[in-house]
This record gives sequence, structure tokens and C-alpha cells, in this order.
Amino acid sequence: RTVYVNGEYVPENEAKISVFDRGFLMADAIYEVAAVLDGKLTDFPAHIKRLHRSAGELGMRVDVSDDELLEIHRELIRLNGVDQGMVYLQMTRGATDRDFVFDTDALTPSLVLFTQKKELIDTGVARNGMKVITVEDKRWGRCDIKTTQLLYPSLAKMEAKKAGADDAWLVRDGEITEGSSNNAYIVTKDGAIVTRPLSNSILPGITRATLIAYAEETGTRIEERVFTVKEAHEAAEAFITSASVFVGPVVSIDGVQLSDGKPGPVTTRLRELYIAESR
Ligand code: PDD
Repeated sequence: RTVYVNGEYVPENEAKISVFDRGFLMADAIYEVAAVLDGKLTDFPAHIKRLHRSAGELGMRVDVSDDELLEIHRELIRLNGVDQGMVYLQMTRGATDRDFVFDTDALTPSLVLFTQKKELIDTGVARNGMKVITVEDKRWGRCDIKTTQLLYPSLAKMEAKKAGADDAWLVRDGEITEGSSNNAYIVTKDGAIVTRPLSNSILPGITRATLIAYAEETGTRIEERVFTVKEAHEAAEAFITSASVFVGPVVSIDGVQLSDGKPGPVTTRLRELYIAESR
């Protein structure tokens, strides 16, 4: 695989990053994951907009233009022959002697991109749905910034795997915030989609924004409000959204089966619409 590191396209085993990079030492880094369908990027402008927002919130400099970023994405897709999968982008504040205090202006941000091939359409999750468990949301107070502080979500997903589930939904004060790496939704018995409103507690998902627009276009009621674990257990359907899964059905929560335990009709329709519109 060819990867991109600070201005160069290199084989992955020749890629180098400083051990003093603040991304490595302090998770002082932001990232984006954009899906590739039929060799083409999905929702690229929205991902770049969010990258700028993340950088702005952390006072991180973006030294590369949007056109250059698009060009790097396209070049990696071409060099690696990616038809389906994703492009991962990570930007860090830069490398400097280890210190909690930093001077952004004196640092040169690091930029790393690589591709991952992955089947996105015909997946086990799409066919059978996923099981989730709920765990306490122990992340920091700025979950709206897409940083690489992913240790807690990673541990939460491991806990889910250990419990025989596929993913963890995070809970703050009895209410679901989001999934470990996705936004969370339930569909009520009268067919309304419920998802938590944007705040510092969740990532403003690019897939989320698109999904809400599609739901509105198709006349499906969308309620942006907090929902409890109890409501989730009693839902008719549930699903998640993310760039790497699109719309992923959830068929059980904490061992409680939803409806007949198969991907629900509202979820399936939105997944099909999302994929059709992305192509
Ligand atoms: N995760 N919430 C969290 C905590 C996430 O990490 C993600 C994305 C999302 C969905 O955002 P989007 O629709 O823009 O992908 C919500 C990526 C895919 C990841 O970490 O791999």
C-alpha cells in the first residue's frame, strides 16, 4: 500500500513520523474518514469542512489547501486501486520536545493519509444487523471535535465484543449519546426516528446530516431529542450511521431483541436510499 506522509507518497513500510510528534505523544491530532464507493469519494466537502472546524476548536493550523487535500485523496485512491473502502486522514499539531505547553506557530503540522479497502454494501451487518450493549460514556466533554483520543471508545468496543455483541452505545445520565464510532438512532413504534441533538456530547456525523435530510425528503418524522436506554430497549428499530457503515441496522440492545430481531423496514429503506444517492 502507498501512504501519504508530509508531502510524499511512500510505501507503507517506508513511511516515517517523528517519535516527538504530538499526535503520538498527546493525541494532539484530528482525523477524518471518508468513504469510497465505486472509486469515488462520498461527501468529501462536508468532511473537509468538519476538519477545519476541529482544527479551529483546537487552535491547530491547517497548512494545506482544500484542493490539495482533494488531490491527495484522489491520488491515493488511484495508486491503491480502491473501489470500495475509505481514506483516513490525520493531522497533528506537529513534532516538538515533549511538553504540555506548546507554541502552535512554531510547529509544522503533520499530515498522514492512507486508504483501507473494505466491502461497504454487501456486509454481514447489513444482512443480519448488529447487537449493541450500553456502557457508561466516560469520554471528555468535547466529543464534537474529531480527535484521535480513541482509547475509551476502543475499550468500550472491546467490552462489547467480550459480551458477544458488535458495538457499544455510550450512556450519559441514563441517555444514549452515540455509538463508540457512530451516531445512534431508534425508530419508535409509531415510525418516528429519534436521535440525540448536536452538542458537545456527540460528533456531528456527516452521514447523520445526510440521513436527516433524506428522512425529511421522504416524509419520515425525525425527532432530534435525547432518548433513554429504556426507550431504546422498547424501540421498534434501531440503527447507527457512520462513513464506514453508512446506515447499519441494530437488532438487539443489551440482549433485548427489537421487534422480530431482523433489520427493520425504516432502517432498510434509509440504507438503500443512502447508498443509491451516494453512487
Ligand atoms: N467514526 N460518532 C463518533 C464517535 C464517530 O467516531 C463517528 C465516525 C461518527 C459518525 O460520523 P461520520 O458519519 O461523519 O462518519 C459519530 C469514524 C468512521 C471512525 O472513527 O472510524
